[in-house]
Amino acid sequence: MYLVKAPRATFTQLRSFAAVAELGGITRASEALHLTQPTISGQLRELSESLGVELLMPSGRGVALTDEGRQLQATVAAMFSEWRNFEETVADLRGLARGTLRIAGVTTTEYFLAQWLKPFAAAYPGIDIDLAIENRDAVVRRLEQDQDDVAVMMMPPSKLSLETMSVMDNPLVLIAPINHPWSLSKTVPFKTWASASLLMREQGSGTRQAALEFFEAKRVEPLIRMTLGSNEAIKHAVAAGLGLAIISRHTLAAKPEREGLCILPAAGLPIKRQWQLVWRRDRQLPRVAARFVEFMRQSSALL
Ligand code: PGA
Repeated sequence: MYLVKAPRATFTQLRSFAAVAELGGITRASEALHLTQPTISGQLRELSESLGVELLMPSGRGVALTDEGRQLQATVAAMFSEWRNFEETVADLRGLARGTLRIAGVTTTEYFLAQWLKPFAAAYPGIDIDLAIENRDAVVRRLEQDQDDVAVMMMPPSKLSLETMSVMDNPLVLIAPINHPWSLSKTVPFKTWASASLLMREQGSGTRQAALEFFEAKRVEPLIRMTLGSNEAIKHAVAAGLGLAIISRHTLAAKPEREGLCILPAAGLPIKRQWQLVWRRDRQLPRVAARFVEFMRQSSALL
């Protein structure tokens, strides 16, 4: 199949358009692509003229896509993904696994994701890894916008059709400053610890969502004293005596005392969750990502 009429848009123009669309502005796109702003503006003007439609409109301090622009963004994403597959196939035919693994992990996974990626990177030296670490809602948005091939998270969204593969347990525990009096008890009853002041992760965090779901199931309103934007901030604030927190066991050192913390023997905890490796069903998984999934499947240490 070939096009009778040669498209007038070039790959270079489409690349610039995709960067502006994804990053929300010409300045950011010019920084990411190492091109000047006039170059990008010129390419976008030519693209818009050759297609005969407006692709962008001003919005706040940046630009937003018109309906036609959104349509083009989806088309370009599909074209580039096919192109990447082609390049990877050609590299495979030459016996070299090449390409980029685009992976996102929720913030809690930053404590161990490198350990998973290390053997993969060693086995496939030709594969670059582009890792994004964000909270759960931001990772979901990235998947929606097709910015990553695979992602690791605890609570995959139901609104996206995803393949999922459990890769590791993620117990959520209650932490307190070291030598907290409750640490001497055999068990702290739920009613007792549930009335303590809690520090919670920000809106959009999966850890927060899991903790709130836990309380909701028990029909108890948690006392959220403070909201903090990262696991490390939570740990420091708990160690400083600002409250208790429910957090992934994997964010803590093997010996939490070293960080000025202890895990309380709280009745009903840990909340037993798992991390899932996920990818979109409605997209063809790029070969590099398929290799990674296979690698993880065979990696017995993780299951
Ligand atoms: P998050 O991660 O709290 O950093 O969003 C939660 C998760 O493990 O899915």
